[in-house]
Amino acid sequence: MKCLLHGGAANVADETLRTLKQEAAERSARSLPSGLNALDLVEQAVAAMELEPYLNAGYGSVIQLDGRIRMDAGICTSTGKYGAVVQIEHVANPIRVARKLMDAGYHSILSGDGATAFARECGFESRSPFTKERLEEYYAVRADIPKLSYAELSRDVTATNNKKLSTVGAVAVDDNGFLAAACSTGGTKYCYPGRVGDTPIFGAGVYCSEHVAVACTGEGDKVLRRLTSRKVEDFYLESGDLQIAVERALADLQERENGIGGLIAVSAKGEAAHAHTTGFMSFTSV
Ligand code: GLY
Repeated sequence: MKCLLHGGAANVADETLRTLKQEAAERSARSLPSGLNALDLVEQAVAAMELEPYLNAGYGSVIQLDGRIRMDAGICTSTGKYGAVVQIEHVANPIRVARKLMDAGYHSILSGDGATAFARECGFESRSPFTKERLEEYYAVRADIPKLSYAELSRDVTATNNKKLSTVGAVAVDDNGFLAAACSTGGTKYCYPGRVGDTPIFGAGVYCSEHVAVACTGEGDKVLRRLTSRKVEDFYLESGDLQIAVERALADLQERENGIGGLIAVSAKGEAAHAHTTGFMSFTSV
């Protein structure tokens, strides 16, 4: 069994915040019980990180520009299963809702009120993901953008790039080659209400096949356009080397979109790889 976790990749200048994010990922890894299969392990790893206030997923998610938190999560396996919730509100663990949807095997993605209603139907209680730090950040961002309009927000795309980012994710492979990947996010700062990033989307932020399990973090709008997680498989099949594959996928994101991010991946053969083109990525392995 091999499992990799990340708590987000970004240009985090504040040393204290970097330490908090790194410790959160390590604490989540330590909390994992032994004996879980790859799927239960990635769900549990992401669920643990969703409860960490300094990681941008679940509790501690970024607040969208209308003052609401809408979260995205996705989970998938090498046996072709996939489930995701997008823009879900008031749940502690979006990844657990995504897992329920995947297991039910009817729809693949539920969004907004439908996702939240499904969570309630499954027995998930209403929980507030707001933290004091995120509220302070939100008021500072709104001071920057007093009047919310998409035109104003997107006026200078490059100026906002480094103010965005972050996600949590996990990938795992069992000794018999069964693979799973899971990702969860509160989205980005400077986020127009309803915006969906790469995280829950199969092939973009999260991907699994019989060859690889991949979780991506970074500039989600750009990752969506490059299908960065899926590209790891292409480059892996070409090169036969997982580390080269994740580095090429990030180079592709950089070259084609001027985008930055981070990747974790495992293969059915038990190889593991990680890389990031941001200044920092909180990362650990089990
Ligand atoms: N990578 C997280 C997002 O863009 O939503």
